[in-house]
Amino acid sequence: MSTLRTLTRLSGPDLLSIQDLTPPEAEGILELTGLVKERPEEFHTALAGKQLVLIFEKASLRTRITFEVGMAELGGRALFFDETGARLGARESLGDIARNLERWVDGVVLRTFAHRTVTEMAAHASIPVINGLSDREHPCQALGDYFTLEERFGDLRRVKLAFVGDGNNVCHSLLLTVALVGGRIAVATPPGYEPDADIVRAASETAARTGGRVELTYDWQEAVRGADAVYTDVWASMGQEAETAARKKIFAPYQVNAELMAQAAPHAVFLHCLPAHRGEEVTDAVMDSPASLVFEQAENRLHVQKAILLLLMGNGHRPRSFGAGQGRRARG
Ligand code: CP
Ligand code: NVA
Repeated sequence: MSTLRTLTRLSGPDLLSIQDLTPPEAEGILELTGLVKERPEEFHTALAGKQLVLIFEKASLRTRITFEVGMAELGGRALFFDETGARLGARESLGDIARNLERWVDGVVLRTFAHRTVTEMAAHASIPVINGLSDREHPCQALGDYFTLEERFGDLRRVKLAFVGDGNNVCHSLLLTVALVGGRIAVATPPGYEPDADIVRAASETAARTGGRVELTYDWQEAVRGADAVYTDVWASMGQEAETAARKKIFAPYQVNAELMAQAAPHAVFLHCLPAHRGEEVTDAVMDSPASLVFEQAENRLHVQKAILLLLMGNGHRPRSFGAGQGRRARG
């Protein structure tokens, strides 16, 4: 039976981590994303009267614009609160900020340095909190990316993704998502830059239940061999700028270039969350090749986030053919 027929809300109040989701919820998000993308007009008033605030400690192009456009397309409104010159919680406590926000708005998207900022805000706020990137995870990105892979390949359980580069926030969310959807991921990093051991353990445990597969290696050739998709991200994430020069040397052998892509399956696609540092983690030739789906990924951020907003902030709105929904859940 279609998950979407029963999924009108996520079981948790927030989306802080892919670990907040069950396999049917991940499937339901991807299914609703397809519907939202195919028939956006059916959702034009779904979040009428709802307000979402975006609070960002770090720069953004895609996350900010896709949440703002997404809210407008759902009939709601988004406000941007720029904290790029400050740290959230420095001027007043996160609990007090949460207790203010819940009086005015219906949801919060946070982009933070410390993941703890996201979890602490969620612990205090009675409105949904969405992680728009922390130092630990980037869940909206990974869900959009798995939607992109599903569009290209269909059954995600047959897809092998090779992630080459830094075991960072994007890598973490991809590991956890692949485990939920029962796919296969091979991560190749330089020694010392592996993904967090707790994330790898959680992903491996979930994968054991879903039939997925999680592999870690220092050898990019081993990871890329036979891969349907090759993914990379910047070598120094936001907040790691001081390490840029050192990391350039360490990661140079892991650059995704034509020679690396030639080791993947002949039909392999290239993925990158963007922004890309062309000439570093990826060459122009790969970024601009027909195999590159990077702008499809960017587009799908909009659709997947609309689905997430509907499932966290909506009133169970569905097109008539998908049945009636439920009221908004209030948190204790
Ligand atoms: N991929 C991504 O999150 O892009 P931004 O940093 O521009 O939001
Ligand atoms: N790993 C990158 C992702 C940017 C979208 C960062 O955290 O800067």
